[in-house]
Amino acid sequence: MAISSSSTKGVVISFPLLILSVSAAAISLFFLSALFSSPPPPCSCPTTTSAAARDIPTTTTTRLEDIEWVKNQIEANGLHMADNVLRKGINPRTREKQLQDLLQFKGISHYEDQEASNHTALPCPGELLVEQHHSNYGEPWAGGRDVFEFLAEAAHLRPDSRVLEIGCGTLRVGLHFIRFLNPDLFHCLERDELSLMASFRYELPSQGLLSKRPLIVRGEDMDFSKFGSGTMYDLIYASAVFLHIPDNLVWVGLEGLAKRLKPFDGRIFVSHNIKFCSRLGGEECTKRLSSLGLEYIGKFTHDSLLFNHYEIWFGFKRTKG
Ligand SMILES: *[C@@H]1O[C@H](CO)[C@@H](O)[C@H](O)[C@H]1NC(C)=O
Repeated sequence: MAISSSSTKGVVISFPLLILSVSAAAISLFFLSALFSSPPPPCSCPTTTSAAARDIPTTTTTRLEDIEWVKNQIEANGLHMADNVLRKGINPRTREKQLQDLLQFKGISHYEDQEASNHTALPCPGELLVEQHHSNYGEPWAGGRDVFEFLAEAAHLRPDSRVLEIGCGTLRVGLHFIRFLNPDLFHCLERDELSLMASFRYELPSQGLLSKRPLIVRGEDMDFSKFGSGTMYDLIYASAVFLHIPDNLVWVGLEGLAKRLKPFDGRIFVSHNIKFCSRLGGEECTKRLSSLGLEYIGKFTHDSLLFNHYEIWFGFKRTKG
């Protein structure tokens, strides 16, 4: 025992030393060669790195080969889903019970007294930790991915596209955009404080997306002034939002949005229905849209990947530059 532990120690000591001396040698070699070599020739390396090398996703849809792959994994592991299984677990609890346990017992390991408040960088309220907010809006939570895949495809989204969501709730959809887009390019207007708290204090940190710096702004439905007047979007979407807003306010909103949509290639998508438009009558609506520089491009549906459901989306583009 003593022999083996001391020999382990020997390795532990000598290994870093070895690394140190190797890196010291490398550093002096570097400086030596920098001293004695002529300035390097202008770089002939390629100016655009391939998407794969930069680890930027090149597709936003789930591909057939992905579906085949996961089906094969399930089959290879011999997995079957028994009917109607909601596993009770070792400690069956509702969200209310989970919350109570979290507040009362905090699991088996936790800090006490003053230490309790200085070991957690971003203390998250228990109400959010038990994910009650995953049931605030459309369920199931996983359906957010379907919306993303449809919109991203329909708007030919790229990582450098700019996206504005009207009413992003608890980021069921927005998370997928934020993950896909480069930093700063996802904007959202949301008025519900609890939803905003869930986004900032649970979803973004727990998904590792704080570094994406989404611009999520608290504000009323159609007040876009906080996004600056010069920002132009490739995609603006509102999922189940316009149907809850009085028609006249929707039109005020559309007027503001039309100015922020990239002409021709930019897209506005609205889900569920466009009664603000159909209530005017077809011709009147077309006129009103065209007075804003917008044109209706059609109704689209998108099947869910995971359950028997499809979303209905209405698209608009900007016809004037
Ligand atoms: C937390 O606070 C206590 C009391 O002030 C202090 O003794 C301890 O060192 C702190 N711990 C950390 C990780 O900062």
